[in-house]
Amino acid sequence: MINSDDYTLADFVVSEEPELFAKARSFAEFHDDWVAKGTYIYRRLVLSPCSNVVSIRDARTRESRRMVMLSSNNYLGLNTRPEVMEAAISAIRKYGTSLCGAPHLNGTYDLVQELERQLADFEGREEAVVFTSGYQANVGAITGLMRPKDVVIIDKLCHASIIDGCRLAHCKMRAFEHNDMADLERILKSCESKFEGKLIVVDGVFSMDGDRAPLPEIVRLAKKYDVRVMVDEAHGIGVLGEKGRGTVEHFGLHDEVDLVMGTFSKTLGSTGGYIAGRHETINYIRHYARSYMFSASPTPAAVGAALKSLEVMRAEPGLRVRLWETINYFHRALTSRGFKVFPEQPESAIMVIVVGADMTSRSMSKDVHEAGVFVSSVIYPAVAKNESRIRISLTADHTREELDQALEVLTQVARSHGLLATSEG
Ligand SMILES: Cc1ncc(COP(=O)(O)O)c(C=O)c1O
Repeated sequence: MINSDDYTLADFVVSEEPELFAKARSFAEFHDDWVAKGTYIYRRLVLSPCSNVVSIRDARTRESRRMVMLSSNNYLGLNTRPEVMEAAISAIRKYGTSLCGAPHLNGTYDLVQELERQLADFEGREEAVVFTSGYQANVGAITGLMRPKDVVIIDKLCHASIIDGCRLAHCKMRAFEHNDMADLERILKSCESKFEGKLIVVDGVFSMDGDRAPLPEIVRLAKKYDVRVMVDEAHGIGVLGEKGRGTVEHFGLHDEVDLVMGTFSKTLGSTGGYIAGRHETINYIRHYARSYMFSASPTPAAVGAALKSLEVMRAEPGLRVRLWETINYFHRALTSRGFKVFPEQPESAIMVIVVGADMTSRSMSKDVHEAGVFVSSVIYPAVAKNESRIRISLTADHTREELDQALEVLTQVARSHGLLATSEG
């Protein structure tokens, strides 16, 4: 019998037994023991809208439980705004539940075209193309543009969809150490005469740790080595920049960045994603991105909600002000209680408490969960071994009471795990 404490997900990628399903059998033993121990807190059953508070079904008691939600990317609280929900409903009334096919062969809605126009306007770009998910947008941009003689240069901590895009494109991929500009330059030099098309792709805000890419230095190097730049703004939209366009706007680099990717699944309270840029590039991507060509259009509800959220986000910059008050309050409170918080100064709506040992993180997350606070535990293989962390994301809707309740729980649990000195100690 497997003791789940001695294993991680990485141990079941391959199996010593050659039979195809053997690894699933040994994984099942690991998984069942992990669940039985009560430290498996993934795929929690959510019974309410995923807002600043959320009801979940307790896996042990089967009761419904209210939790303070510190794990949502719903940064401006738009997924429960009445006008956003109403826009989703009226889109269903007009178009039904699905177009049941991909845009090239089955057609598209005026609602999608309007969303693409609004996104292009928001981004200050000639055109935008909407995909069914943010994941597909990254995969689509990269597979649409890159060929085997081309190279994509990425940050090592880029989102999985960027890496998968490179794999599917059969282009070359080179990864530089996280946010390490000397390493980026080393790679750019080594690529100088080797490849044809060259593209740097980075997350504007890194999804696991909440730190930003040093875009001014990246675009300087891109210019020096004549390389195109694409920025994934999944966690920047609605959070950073005067108009909420994200990291590119925050650093004032609109003209230096060639392509911008965004998702609807964070600030825009929906699902779907987009790529924005010059008209001819975007039109080319539409015709060569396999994740656009061979996947059904986003549902009318998703498009209707994203369109309305975009309108609300642009009309109410005060939401972003409130979000930053919350981010600064929570970061300061964690730091003053003695937590090791990353980034040291807040850079986005995401921050992490550095825990270290994977087992400590698993046990802490379980206790935090049982005390009514919903956080994400990020452990190996998502991060390096024993560099585990508790990931927190904040929204404009969190009240001071909710934040203080969460702070109290985190403090108590950290003390009981020796991560913080006890009040007596
Ligand atoms: C940085 C980043 N890029 C892309 C994606 C994919 O977006 P979606 O979940 O909308 O498919 C995510 C979401 O997890 C993300 O964090």
